[in-house]
Amino acid sequence: MKKVVFSGIQPSGVIHIGNYLGAIQRWVRLQHETFNYFCIVDLHAITVRQDPEALRANTINLAKTYLAAGLDPQHCILFIQSHVKEHTELAWLLGTLTYMGELSRMTQFKDKSGTKGENVGVGLFTYPTLMAADILLYRTQLVPVGEDQKQHIELTRDLAIRFNNAFGETFVVPEPLIGQVGARIMSLGDPTRKMSKSDPRPAHYIALTDTPDVIRKKINRAVTDSGSEILYHEEKPALSNLLTIYHLMSGIPISELEERYRGVGYAQFKRDLADVIIEHLRPFQERYEGLDDAEVIRILREGASRARVVAEQTVRQVKERMGIVVE
Ligand code: TYM
Repeated sequence: MKKVVFSGIQPSGVIHIGNYLGAIQRWVRLQHETFNYFCIVDLHAITVRQDPEALRANTINLAKTYLAAGLDPQHCILFIQSHVKEHTELAWLLGTLTYMGELSRMTQFKDKSGTKGENVGVGLFTYPTLMAADILLYRTQLVPVGEDQKQHIELTRDLAIRFNNAFGETFVVPEPLIGQVGARIMSLGDPTRKMSKSDPRPAHYIALTDTPDVIRKKINRAVTDSGSEILYHEEKPALSNLLTIYHLMSGIPISELEERYRGVGYAQFKRDLADVIIEHLRPFQERYEGLDDAEVIRILREGASRARVVAEQTVRQVKERMGIVVE
């Protein structure tokens, strides 16, 4: 039996190489060995105010990103979260088991709520319960994500165990699947912060749809560390990040890259790195441009109808276990 995989990305802002290397590229490699659900989590995106037109466009563009990156609808159920209403229903049911204390400890909530004080949206606070619902609906065993989502998956596991203890064995307890390298791609402008979709400075990330010229400029301007050696080392966070990107986009081991660039200046290294990124993204960008909206929407509808079958069964079982009289 193939293991069940679930993962998702928010259609908020541009998808960058951090999302790609931490998540999508790994999903593509995994897809033939596992049974997959890859979701566009639009209900998560609206926990931060979205422009409606932009949200619509970002949702379809993210589906195109999944397909252009190589996710195959023959091997993956690709769908929009809001098309399967059981996500919100299970989120409510799980919310009744979630503690205020554990949600308050979520670092993503602390980061995003920032200085808003009492005016922080409730959706931002209960976001991790919706994420737990996404995962638990499909009896998911593995959740391939970047490092930043680990805490949410730990909460998901706690909720699954808590429910099973209270109402009998119901949920599969999922495991996070976090890459050894690339699980935390850092900002090009500040290697102490992760590359982020919500960064207002486009120079700090490389979008998957950036043109070769833009990629060259961004890599050229990327900050480096003091000294001139090109080494992967904790005291060289900027170079370590660039080497990680180089490695994941070329397949060349980091030790070999260090060897290759011994005594070579940053300028040459950056030129080569930009070429590697451009060449890696070229086939993706060609496929992305060639995708037709109507066909993408057809794939998403079909995905939702397959996901719904499993989601309905889970919610029904959860309600029965909790003593809710089902129709
Ligand atoms: P999101 O939309 O912020 O990010 C999508 C995926 O990209 C990974 N990622 C990164 N990986 C490496 N380096 C980075 N700089 C970087 N930035 C982002 C994220 O870890 C993630 O895997 N809460 C989730 C979405 C979600 C979800 C789910 C994920 C909702 N329900 C169920 C898995 C399962 C989020 O905000 O991801």
